[in-house]
Amino acid sequence: MLSHAIRFGIWALVHGNRAALQDPDEPYDASFARNRALILEAESLGYDSTLVAQHTINPHDERLDQLEAWTASAALAALTSRIEIITAIKPYLYHPVVLAKMALQIEEISGGRFAINLVNAWNRPELERAGIGFAEHDERYAYGEEWLSVVRRLLAGERVTHAGRHFNVQEYELRPTSRFRARPRIYVGGESAPARQLVADQGDVWFINGQPLDDVKSLIDDVSGRPRSGAPLRFGLSAFVVARETDAEAEEAHRHLLELAAKDAPLKAIQTANTDPKVVMMQTMAKSPRVGTNGGTAAGLVGSYDRVAERILAFHALGIETFMLQFQPFEREMRRFAAEVMPRVRARQATPRRKAGGHG
Ligand SMILES: Cc1cc2nc3c(=O)[nH]c(=O)nc-3n(C[C@H](O)[C@H](O)[C@H](O)COP(=O)(O)O)c2cc1C
Repeated sequence: MLSHAIRFGIWALVHGNRAALQDPDEPYDASFARNRALILEAESLGYDSTLVAQHTINPHDERLDQLEAWTASAALAALTSRIEIITAIKPYLYHPVVLAKMALQIEEISGGRFAINLVNAWNRPELERAGIGFAEHDERYAYGEEWLSVVRRLLAGERVTHAGRHFNVQEYELRPTSRFRARPRIYVGGESAPARQLVADQGDVWFINGQPLDDVKSLIDDVSGRPRSGAPLRFGLSAFVVARETDAEAEEAHRHLLELAAKDAPLKAIQTANTDPKVVMMQTMAKSPRVGTNGGTAAGLVGSYDRVAERILAFHALGIETFMLQFQPFEREMRRFAAEVMPRVRARQATPRRKAGGHG
């Protein structure tokens, strides 16, 4: 498999804390001011990318603040200068021509650093209570597939005529297109069978939920073996990091976060009730005790700085290029990762490794 340089990204804090909502070391804050400061700092620390998740209402508790992904991303694009900005999109919320237009505008504002992450929704009330309706899992994917086929062509500057089940677009062409490359990059987040086919057919990068090495290996083997046209698919992994001087300290910090997260049990119960049971992401996450969203610590980036660096290289050897990371308290741990883990990864890459993935 073609090896790309390792890239580190951070999840924007669109709904505050990633592991536990009630943490004295990280008061709840999903404001634009915080996200602006966070992403500017991430950029200066050497992070390559940020992922701005999309939720119109807070999926944990609708009374909590929620950052709006697209307007915030446009502002972040203007404020930053190097970091990639990936913004999630749930197809039912925007008509494809409107979304493609917005994406091309942010591509322009950012100077060619913009990407979309297509996600097909799990939080039923967000769509249902807006009157949009919440279609069945595979039907959402059929909609998303048609939606993306229109968006993808518009992003590339094609003149699009499309008559399908859901959209009827006649001779539509958007200008300007990207001045920097063929089109903004398309990520896809989702793990089910239709998600895999969608990314093989139309995605540039597949975002995998954090999980153990062997599971990630089977997922990559499955999807990279599928026929597709264009450049080979690239891979990203979501993961929550708990890195300390020693394994014991990291395990203690993980235990502490698990205890804090347990206080959110009543909210988690509401979230579970609101979730489409067919969403594979939630089944993956139910497999082991972990903190963080989208797999979180199940990816095993928990341990000494050396252990975490080794584990990152082991994932990279499987084909993971972009590590989209979570921390708590976010700012403090993001700095620690940049100071302690990033240099260890770089140093190991410069010298031959002994045994990647040796830690269990
Ligand atoms: C990296 C990543 C980012 C995601 N971001 C969002 C998001 O911003 N909003 C959202 O509602 N779901 C998000 N999801 C969850 C997807 O909506 C979920 O995986 C989807 O329902 C697909 O279901 P599936 O796993 O059954 O294919 C994300 C998933 C991944 C892997």
